[in-house]
This record gives sequence, C-alpha cells and structure tokens, in this order.
Amino acid sequence: MMHITRRHFVGGAGLAALAVQFPSLALARQGSFIDLVAGPSQQAIFQPDGPASDLWTYNGSAPGPEIRVRRDERVRVRLANNLEEPTSLHWHGIRIDNAMDGVAGLTQEPIEPGESFEYDFVAPDAGTYWYHAHNKSWNQVARGLYGPLIVDEDEVPFDRAHDLTLVIDDWRLAGEGTLDVASLGSLMDWSHDGRLGNWLTVNGRAMPVNMLNAGEPYRLRLINASNARILEIDPNRFDAKVIAYDGQALPEPVRLTYAPLMVGPAQRVDLLIVPQAGSDFVIEELSGDTPFAFAGFEVRGETADGPGVPSLPVNDLPEPELAGARTVRVEMTGGAMGNIGRVTYNGKVLEGSDFRDTGQVWAFNGIANLPETPLYSAQRGETIVIETVNNTAFVHAMHVHGHHFRVIERSGSEIDVGQPWRDTFLVGPQQTTRIAFVADNPGKWLYHCHMLEHAAGGMNTWFEVT
Ligand code: C2O
Ligand code: CU
Repeated sequence: MMHITRRHFVGGAGLAALAVQFPSLALARQGSFIDLVAGPSQQAIFQPDGPASDLWTYNGSAPGPEIRVRRDERVRVRLANNLEEPTSLHWHGIRIDNAMDGVAGLTQEPIEPGESFEYDFVAPDAGTYWYHAHNKSWNQVARGLYGPLIVDEDEVPFDRAHDLTLVIDDWRLAGEGTLDVASLGSLMDWSHDGRLGNWLTVNGRAMPVNMLNAGEPYRLRLINASNARILEIDPNRFDAKVIAYDGQALPEPVRLTYAPLMVGPAQRVDLLIVPQAGSDFVIEELSGDTPFAFAGFEVRGETADGPGVPSLPVNDLPEPELAGARTVRVEMTGGAMGNIGRVTYNGKVLEGSDFRDTGQVWAFNGIANLPETPLYSAQRGETIVIETVNNTAFVHAMHVHGHHFRVIERSGSEIDVGQPWRDTFLVGPQQTTRIAFVADNPGKWLYHCHMLEHAAGGMNTWFEVT
C-alpha cells in the first residue's frame, strides 16, 4: 500500500511538465439567485489521474464556485441540501445581517435534507472571504463543503488575469490516495491539534502551476480552508508583500520582517507580487520537516517597465474606543496534556466517561459549547475587549462572527498587534491575546475556535448585540 506523507512531494522540480492554469472557479449567475446544491460528488484530490474520493461539495466540486460581487451589492444564494444530514451555510468574514449568518442552531434552523434556504445579504467590505458549511463543520468542511466569496472594490484594482484566488485545503488521505473518511470524528483529533491532513490542494488540485508575466503586478488571494492546519509560508522567499489580511486591505503593502507567516484555519492573506523574468517560484508550506510546495508559478517574458502597482482602498470600519471599554475574559482549558477543570455542558457538570461520551474535551470559562445565556450582551456601538487566555497546550484560531477586530495586545509577541483588521486570530499555548472591536451589528454571534474539531469539542460560545 502506498504511504503518503508530506515528504512524498518534491516541490520545485519539473514545473513545466505540470503547467496548468489554476482551475477556474467562475460562476454564472442565473437570474437573481445563484443556485448552490450541497451534495455528494467525486473528485480526484491526490493526483488528477488518481483515484476519486467521495466528497460533499457545492455544485459538484471542492471548492465550490467562486461567488463574486461588488462591494455593497447583494449576494443572493439559494442553497439546496442534497446531503444525508442537515446543513447551513456561513459567509465567513462578512459583516452580515445576523439572520443570514448561517449558524445552524443559533441564527437559523438547520436546512434538512431535501430542503433549501435563501441567503440574501449585502457585502459591505471589499476583499477575500469564503463560505462554508456551519452544521457539523468538522465533518462537512472536511469533506469539501466550502468555496471562495470575493467582494470587488468599487473600482477593481487588478483585472481578472492578475487577480488569482487560491483556496488551500489540507486533506487527510488514506493509503490509496482517497479521502480518509473512517477517521472523521476521531476523539484523538478532537483532543489534540484537530484533524491534520497529509496532502494539500489549491482549488481542489495538487500543485497547480500558473503562468505569470514578468514585470506585471498580481494579487494572490490565499484562503486557508483546512479544518485545522496552520499554513506556514514565507512571502519573502518569492518576494511578495502582504496587502490584506482576512479580507481587509492594509493601508500600504507590507514586506514582512519575520518568518514564517502563519495562516490559521479560516484566515486569508492577500499577497502582491511583481515577478521578475526567470524567477519561477513555488509557495511552500514550511511547518513539516520538509517544505511542501503546494502552488507553482512560471514567469514568462522579459521584465519591461510594467504597469504601476494598483493600491487597495481600505474599508471603512468603526475604530474601537479603548478608554472605558468593557473587557470580557475567556479562559480556554482542556485538551490533551491540559487540565480542563470543572466543565458544564448543556447544563450538566461532566465527569468520568462523560467527556468521552459527549466528545466535550475543551471549555471556555468552564463551559463546553454554547451556553444558554450569552458570554456577554453588548449595547450596539459599545467597544468590547475580549481577553483570551489560552491555558491549553495547543494553538487555537479564534474567530468572531459578524465583526472584524484589532489585536491590541499579545503576550510574548507583537505579531498583528495594532495594525490589521482581522476576523480570526491565532493564540499560542499559554498565551494571552486581547482583541477589540465595536459591537455594532445586532444579533447573536459566535466566538469559537476555527479548528473545527476544537469547536465541536467545546470551543464555542456566543455573544449578543442589542
Ligand atoms: Cu468560518 Cu463559525 O466560522
Ligand atoms: Cu482550537
């Protein structure tokens, strides 16, 4: 039996033999609603001519089609559920109307098999977003239920040939090169670093290679759709600058002064690159023992004086007012090698085999999964500081629904502090991170770990804005 490891892939060699453009994800709109069908389909994710995996996808492919609208335009999607279990669809990073946030059990009833739901909302901010299933996400996203949502600026800075979306996924393949379904739900994954895979794809394909013209500026939109993998990349290795995080443009392109850049599950980073003649390159994931190249670029032509680099307009978000802001503390406990303490789940204190039977192995402030009453209730317009204390042995990728925030303090590190707007942040073992945002979007919003096994295993809470 073939054994697949991340070492198995030798990046960089023989790019020309592999050259294909990134698979196009473009979608034609039918009437006013875009139709998405969630259902089973087959796809070869190991190699294009390799064995097909049984996936669950939107419209027959993982990722689902690229949905692209202009800022302030309505997104209208009719989702039909052809799966064997209920589902719902979340629009990650959009400061959205709460009723359209797609959280089964909090903002809507799950969509039963055979039923459908119409999502209809305005996308207020330009940038790189994504959509994914939000019912049993650890299962549904792992099987392929996600896709890109791109919101264009009022004046589009990069034309389509210079604006490339890379939806990256970390799959766990079994020996024959097909999706390992048997290990879904493994308590070992839930209590450790989540479901890590052994194979990366970009837009559903292993190591696609794209052609770039020398001297021309390109925008690369990287979206980490993995259940749990933190991608570690070094943009300086291919001379790229960061122009946006989590959808939100930076005032200026930034050359990073540290490496690697960690892109956690659900996070996005937009890179600017102006390739020079003869400088073919790959993007590598650096967290393993051996770098794993997952995307290749061939540069053609001579570097002449290309067009100028377009600048990205910054979205208009409400700035938190720290003076007098309310601080809410969230203490994370549990997981392997951790002490979970006393935990309540669905109103009952867990003990003994309850942890194994319920799968609840993590807690926020001693509560596993959604409490009946919110973590806090904010007045609309109030600045909230969330102080997240990670008393576990693992990194977590914390996501706030419906709002972007600034990281204002992080113990032992300056990364992200002060500048970028984010919707998901990483917090290291034993680290404390403070984020601040204006709670200006009425409704019920999740605050959870985007390592989907951790969320399912307890790292999930909610707050309310009234
Ligand atoms: Cu990307 Cu609660 O989700
Ligand atoms: Cu986590």
